[in-house]
Amino acid sequence: MAQTQRKILVTSALPYANGPIHLGHMLEHIQTDIWVRFQKLRGHLCTAVCADDAHGTAIMIKADQQGITSEQLIDRVRQEHMADFKDFLIGYDNYYSTHSDENREFSNYIYKRLRDNNKIAVRSITQAYDPEKEMFLADRFIKGTCPKCKAEDQYGDNCEVCSATYTPMEMINPRSVYSGATPVEKESEHYFFKLPEFQDFLAKWTRSGTLQDQVANKLSEWLDAGLKEWDISRDAPYFGFEIPDAPGKYFYVWLDAPIGYMASFKNLCDRTEGLTFDDYWAKDSDAELYHFIGKDIINFHALFWPAMLDCAGYRTPTGVNAHGYVTVDGTKMSKSRGTFIMARTYLNHLDPQYLRYYFAAKLNASVDDIDLSLSDFVQRVNSDVVGKVVNIASRTASFINKKFDGQLASDVSENSMIQSFIDAGDVIAQHFESREYGKAIREIMHLADQANEYIADQAPWVLAKDEATLPKVQEICTVALNLFSILATYLKPVMPQMVADAEAFLGKVLTWDNRSELLFGKTVNAFKPLMARIDQKQIDAMIEEGKEAAVAAAEAVETSQATTETELSKDPIAAEISFDDFAKVDLRIALIAKAEHVEKANKLLKLTLDLGGETRTVFSGIKSAYKPEDLEGKLTVMVANLAPRQMKFGLSEGMVLAAGPGKDEIYLLEPHAGAKPGQRVM
Ligand code: 2FM
Ligand code: ZN
Repeated sequence: MAQTQRKILVTSALPYANGPIHLGHMLEHIQTDIWVRFQKLRGHLCTAVCADDAHGTAIMIKADQQGITSEQLIDRVRQEHMADFKDFLIGYDNYYSTHSDENREFSNYIYKRLRDNNKIAVRSITQAYDPEKEMFLADRFIKGTCPKCKAEDQYGDNCEVCSATYTPMEMINPRSVYSGATPVEKESEHYFFKLPEFQDFLAKWTRSGTLQDQVANKLSEWLDAGLKEWDISRDAPYFGFEIPDAPGKYFYVWLDAPIGYMASFKNLCDRTEGLTFDDYWAKDSDAELYHFIGKDIINFHALFWPAMLDCAGYRTPTGVNAHGYVTVDGTKMSKSRGTFIMARTYLNHLDPQYLRYYFAAKLNASVDDIDLSLSDFVQRVNSDVVGKVVNIASRTASFINKKFDGQLASDVSENSMIQSFIDAGDVIAQHFESREYGKAIREIMHLADQANEYIADQAPWVLAKDEATLPKVQEICTVALNLFSILATYLKPVMPQMVADAEAFLGKVLTWDNRSELLFGKTVNAFKPLMARIDQKQIDAMIEEGKEAAVAAAEAVETSQATTETELSKDPIAAEISFDDFAKVDLRIALIAKAEHVEKANKLLKLTLDLGGETRTVFSGIKSAYKPEDLEGKLTVMVANLAPRQMKFGLSEGMVLAAGPGKDEIYLLEPHAGAKPGQRVM
């Protein structure tokens, strides 16, 4: 059993700091955590680090929308992420942030190494630019009409209706999703990592046993097609690290994200005795390094990342372990169906170990998707965990506690079954090691079935009725609790809390190696129920909460996009502006020709406004204060030259003016009698 202690560093992909953790993320973090706990249980020196991926445009924009700084946003989100992981029993040794001093240092250092090795090219490119927000726009931040099939509301790179691909400028009526402005083309200098020069290195590296076969095959296709230079820079404004020697240019978020693995580990090393950064990252390191990731980010981890590491003088990963996506009841997670389940929503209703067990039972080493079938989930957890494993202890512990004062038999006449349970540990370990958790779980449940058969055959409850056969009862229950203790050892990486409770009952801290140290003659503690069955009602309540959250989130976006009077009322003292600035606002008298409810929106009304011939549609967050029928036929004041905003419910072409603190106190402005629709307001 004695084996050399391995030094292993493990990472999960760094979640973006712009939104909550959902069950899709959780699959990966559970997969990683089980593997890490398994290695630790085996006695290896295994360290797991993660962090929030805190840079990029999306985070900057989100903070802006919420009226806070990017730093405030990422701090808040990181706290939420850490709480979600802790409550799912995910035990990272460090959970850091890519927006850290360590990460800035490593990013600068690696960049300089690439540059000094002549692997950085600089050239000008032309991109879409939002003249209002004064920023460059990635394709997905532009929407418009497909030039081919004329489908409206498509992204700037391809059409979801006819699959046509195009550039944003080829679209009909392209708009910035931020401001609604029409993008213009603008040139700027960009920095590129010369990936094609790593063609040979990568062809070899991707075939060196570091990747799953499926993944290596996919990469071969890309490699055969030829690699392209990788744009690693972004123009200001950008939330990230400024590139040394290139003021106004920032590292693209994907440049410093994987470097965040190093930064998180370095931060841990700096406060941990005996943990040394170079032992794990130097070119000649004998430690193992594994990245657990989703299949969508393979190119970053299996092409760019090893090339960067190698070029900068570091070791490359031992393994990049990709997994598939989570589906719920056979289809993509869906907000409207309530199956886009947030980690917190799940935790509000269910024990995290149920999901840890279920994912483990379904996981293998491939990149296939994992289906969370809710009825199967309930059935499987109840029958396996509660009905099989916990049952072994609950059927026998009470006899030991009540009849023998907690004392186990000092020996048993027949222990071949116990021995076979111990022996099975070798193949179970192989399955965990190779990430074939489903196979490990099948073995464990097969053993649990045998243990239950043994108890049923021996029927200690019958023997307990007769004083003469009491010693036999003690022996049977001692065998059963030894079997239980071995199974608990195997399940410890998957259900750490349940096993901690089992350890408290058994009076033993379980490790892989000490599973062969049997519990004879020992005294066990009072037995408390280890795990309750899932009730379908808990699932229903979770899905219901998921649906409500989806509606609330959609509306939060809508109301933040709908420029309304309630937004103005937040900030009563605006900065001074010049008369010229004021004159830019085209205020008009508008007749509310029609006012309607918007299906599924709690705050918005859809107004059709007549500007004296011209008609505009405006979505306004005034539903709490007005009935549509009371508005029709009234005059109000609107901003007529506000850039149109694309909202989920349609295009909003301006805004109406109102006063008041919000909620049911919103007062639309109305001109004195005599004003005519379309007249300019000055
Ligand atoms: O895809 C994502 O969610 C990224 N935030 C993952 C980054 S992984 C690593 F490279 F940092
Ligand atoms: Zn199209």
